[in-house]
Amino acid sequence: MALYGPAGFYSSGGRAGRRGDFITSPEVGPLFGAVLSRRIDAEWRRQGEPDVFDVIEVGAGPGTLARSIAAARSAVAQAGALRYTGVETSSSQRTLHPEGITSLESMPSRVRNGMVVGNELLDNLPFRLAVWDDGWREAYVTERGGKWVEVLLPFDVLPPSLPVSGVPHGARAPVQDAAASWVRDALALLDDGCVLVFDYCVGVTAELALRPWREWLRTYRQQQRGVHYLNQPGTQDITTEVCVDQLILAAGEPDSVRSQAQWLSVWGIDELVAEGRQWWEEKSSAPDLRAMTGRSRVREAEALCDPSGLGSFTVLEWTTTRS
Ligand SMILES: C[S@@+](CC[C@H](N)C(=O)[O-])C[C@H]1O[C@@H](n2cnc3c(N)ncnc32)[C@H](O)[C@@H]1O
Repeated sequence: MALYGPAGFYSSGGRAGRRGDFITSPEVGPLFGAVLSRRIDAEWRRQGEPDVFDVIEVGAGPGTLARSIAAARSAVAQAGALRYTGVETSSSQRTLHPEGITSLESMPSRVRNGMVVGNELLDNLPFRLAVWDDGWREAYVTERGGKWVEVLLPFDVLPPSLPVSGVPHGARAPVQDAAASWVRDALALLDDGCVLVFDYCVGVTAELALRPWREWLRTYRQQQRGVHYLNQPGTQDITTEVCVDQLILAAGEPDSVRSQAQWLSVWGIDELVAEGRQWWEEKSSAPDLRAMTGRSRVREAEALCDPSGLGSFTVLEWTTTRS
């Protein structure tokens, strides 16, 4: 409700972007989309260059990544085979999507050939909250005296990813059923293709249970960390680090797990930066748009690969082939 209800953060204008509430990789600049275009081309080729290749971007926000991918002029787009769909819950953000893409509120039911992509989606899906109080209990929320407060109740079924020994009193951990089933369902809708997610992740849930919970259950608004998640609901984003073990329980082992910096390197970010430098050097005395774009790639690459920031995000890929 606090994020997606009628008065929720994303229903009332909250969004990624420099003029929004937080910066994501697509919002750093067009380089992220240019690298992803190379990955899209590779997947299109792996599938035998089908005439129609669907890229379904989920949690597409205002459509910034879609714009960068269109500008990158991938081989699949030049062959006229790329069909791009931006799935976004927030209607105000859907109105910002560029022309030439299909905008949907929810996932399509079947994709024959394609890819499903989510950048910083999984951390934003609703999660349950477990609290260790002489055993794991679930935190529910109720209103008391005009304030939102937590009520701890026993679990009907203990989520299997929660650690059961060595847990300090007051420890907390997220139970990410929605994120886990999203990955499983995204894989199930593809006949042939892959699911690619970028997010801030940890390997196992037990890691988060041992960390101060306010480090991983974060709130954001207007480019700053927000307040306690129960305060001023609807005015701030609420997000959790993503537990890879919970995704694996639902969707199986990914085919590839890399840091964002490694993944960008594998898919040619250095080559794109070198190309950008060359565009700049050719025109530095009277720079045109291409020269400016080229120069900005250097700064964008630094931000996207920063080991203490976006570069430390995790990129997970699951591939499926039914035919
Ligand atoms: C953190 S923002 C990321 C936006 C964009 N991907 C980016 O990287 O800049 C997460 C977005 O996912 C959207 N979202 C959340 N749950 C969704 C769902 N089930 N289907 C589609 N979009 C969803 C939110 O409305 C929000 O715009």
